[in-house]
Amino acid sequence: MAIEYQSFVKTLRSGLKAEFPPEAKSIEYAKQLDASDELGSLRNNFIIPTKVSLKKKALNGFLPGPMAITSSEETSPSVYFVGNSLGAQPKCIRNYLDTQLETWASLGVNGHFSSLEKSPLTSWQDLAADCAQKSLDLVGAASPTEIIYMNTLTVNLHLMMASFYRPTEKRHKIIAEWKPFPSDSYAIASQIQWHGLSPSTSLIEIQPDPETNYIPTSRILSLISEHGDSTALLLLPGIQYYTGQLFDIPLITRAAHEKGITVGWDLAHAVGNVELSLHAWDVDFAVWCTYKYLNAGPGAIAGVFVHEKHHGPADPDPSYAELGYRHRLAGWYGADKAVRFNMEKEFRPAEGAHGFQVSNPSAIDLASLSGALSVFNKTRMCQLRDKALVLTAYLEWLLEGLLAGNSDKNGQPAFKIITPGNPLERGSQLSLLLKPGSLDKVSKALQEGGVVCDARKPDVIRVAPVPMYCRFEDVWQFIEVFRKAIHL
Ligand SMILES: Cc1ncc(COP(=O)(O)O)c(C=O)c1O
Repeated sequence: MAIEYQSFVKTLRSGLKAEFPPEAKSIEYAKQLDASDELGSLRNNFIIPTKVSLKKKALNGFLPGPMAITSSEETSPSVYFVGNSLGAQPKCIRNYLDTQLETWASLGVNGHFSSLEKSPLTSWQDLAADCAQKSLDLVGAASPTEIIYMNTLTVNLHLMMASFYRPTEKRHKIIAEWKPFPSDSYAIASQIQWHGLSPSTSLIEIQPDPETNYIPTSRILSLISEHGDSTALLLLPGIQYYTGQLFDIPLITRAAHEKGITVGWDLAHAVGNVELSLHAWDVDFAVWCTYKYLNAGPGAIAGVFVHEKHHGPADPDPSYAELGYRHRLAGWYGADKAVRFNMEKEFRPAEGAHGFQVSNPSAIDLASLSGALSVFNKTRMCQLRDKALVLTAYLEWLLEGLLAGNSDKNGQPAFKIITPGNPLERGSQLSLLLKPGSLDKVSKALQEGGVVCDARKPDVIRVAPVPMYCRFEDVWQFIEVFRKAIHL
């Protein structure tokens, strides 16, 4: 059976649906797709929880899978479709953490300024910058000074808003979407209130289309037009966490800039998932976490992008003329490295995004991120995106097969895909709206069938076959378990 893998990529890249042949319903076809996938071996870099390890109740010193288990232990991997929430563990992270522990144990405080030969890690002082260097392709930055790793996502969102949301009497509004991730909602509302304003007058929420649940670009553009003169900041997610909708970042950014609006993106669900060109798209700032598609571990250190145009005197922010740099909530790690340890009273920021650092970052955390990024550096985002397009299209096609002729006696379908059908308007996630009241039952059945995916109350499951370590065979297995789950 010859599989036209590249022709699927081509079709999907032009925004069309991929037509799989009838035999694509078989496990053999799924395995053929895996055999045609040039990125298939990347999975070997990860520890995928097994069906048995997911039930583990006590530490036993063994890792799941064929790495280091007793011969009697079941090694069958779970279908891990939750990389949009917490990525699977890269095997190399253990070595990166061990390296850091040995460095700390051996060099003590001197590890801030020196590293050991043969170590994949730099001195702790340079580690965040090294991770920035390794992330250029991930976010499409022009230089590592546009990226910094620090704090966590919501904290970075606050720090960026402290610098980029400077409301005036005339321009005080923030345009956001109707249902941001709650942390973003709280951050936006509290920033507005921090300035003595009220969300009732300063927050514009873009409502979705009631039919499809996602937000048409035209609606965003018309709100930008309508509120352009009174809006200070447009803040949207690159990918909406609930529906999986990927926004047209370059188009929306351009339209907002034409109205003089500053533009920030929360890329929690986009980074490591879709291709990004933040510099070329002229995005003012962006923030992201590293525990989802980047696989750096639960609660791992987060990323920030600050466009080069805000690094120097060309920055139109009035505070620049006053201070010599854009105003920010500063801390000693944002000071230029050359003078950071001189303990000077006057703040002299490091270049670009690096000057937005506040505290000494956790070197353990950065070691974990560095390991995770080393796996991304084995490939390129465009290749991962190629695979993601086909993987997600295959999932969609099999789901549509389940829907065909599967309505209940009232003619209602067993579930609805609420993620856009256009492959260019979504990443690796498909969100499935279940029949009211069926979420707990379906979730339980998926869990018992060895599927790990995310449930969002009241009725949605989010299914994310991420291209880094998920297989077409996993998609096929998911469908088998899901078919039974919705019929229970
Ligand atoms: C879109 C979005 N924003 C914010 C957050 C909160 O992130 P953190 O707890 O790292 O601040 C998340 C977490 O999943 C998220 O998905």
